[in-house]
Amino acid sequence: MATQMFEGRGHAAIYQKYRFAPGKELQQTILSYLREKKAIPAELAVDVGCGSGQGTHFLGEHFKKVVGTDISEAQIQEAKATPCMPNISYLVCPAEELPFPAGSVDVLTSFTAAHWFQLERFAREAQRVLRPGGCVAISTYTLDMSLRHGQCSQQLTRVFRECWDEILKYSNDKVKYVLDDYKAIFEALPFPDKKRITDIYDPIPMTVEGVVGYMESTSSYQTFKKNDPTAATSLLQETEKRNDTWERKATAVGNRSPSCPTRM
Ligand SMILES: C[S@@+](CC[C@H](N)C(=O)[O-])C[C@H]1O[C@@H](n2cnc3c(N)ncnc32)[C@H](O)[C@@H]1O
Repeated sequence: MATQMFEGRGHAAIYQKYRFAPGKELQQTILSYLREKKAIPAELAVDVGCGSGQGTHFLGEHFKKVVGTDISEAQIQEAKATPCMPNISYLVCPAEELPFPAGSVDVLTSFTAAHWFQLERFAREAQRVLRPGGCVAISTYTLDMSLRHGQCSQQLTRVFRECWDEILKYSNDKVKYVLDDYKAIFEALPFPDKKRITDIYDPIPMTVEGVVGYMESTSSYQTFKKNDPTAATSLLQETEKRNDTWERKATAVGNRSPSCPTRM
């Protein structure tokens, strides 16, 4: 049975606002692989589990036609409401039953979504819809990501990771695939020619509001909120306050002139 965690309209709206697109290094890694395999230039790319289109948009520049698909109606509504290139369209459908004829797709992508799929069924479907020589690119960002925020990157990253520590216990079992950097997903892919790359480092510019919004967009936080709404709300409020304090401190540090001795 499909695991449907991104169904609510409110959740999808938060997702659209706070989730970020794949960084440049990830994009280039995927495009280099597709060039190496002569899978581009090509006609059709399908982005499976596209959410509100975070990874779908950059594909529009490299394919004649791009279709983003997702099991969640709410996510697809958000995707459709977001401006994008005219060659991009969206469809509600499960990853395990893609509405494309056999051998009709040049490239299948999936960004931070494959851990939710029924893997064997998705792999079979990928084999069916891909043309001979077609490629699949499946990626995720890791939970131990480092954030960029001017001189406060380390503080923001620490707050982000501490927040994750609090909500991880509410995670669906499938998040284990993300925690092992998709190793199990890679091993389950039934393609003879495949490659796993784990050293892609894209700096992610973030704000305090961004961290709180990102946390709220995770399925783990949504589960936390259902189980214990008071504690969940308080976690984000406290996080916001903590960040607020060091943000103000950081501003003071930034304004201090190095040539003026500090008076006590
Ligand atoms: C963490 S979000 C990733 C969204 C987007 N690709 C991104 O990079 O932010 C996972 C998405 O996968 C979708 N999803 C989960 N199970 C699915 C399935 N079986 N078939 C298609 N989409 C699925 C969810 O609805 C959700 O939008």
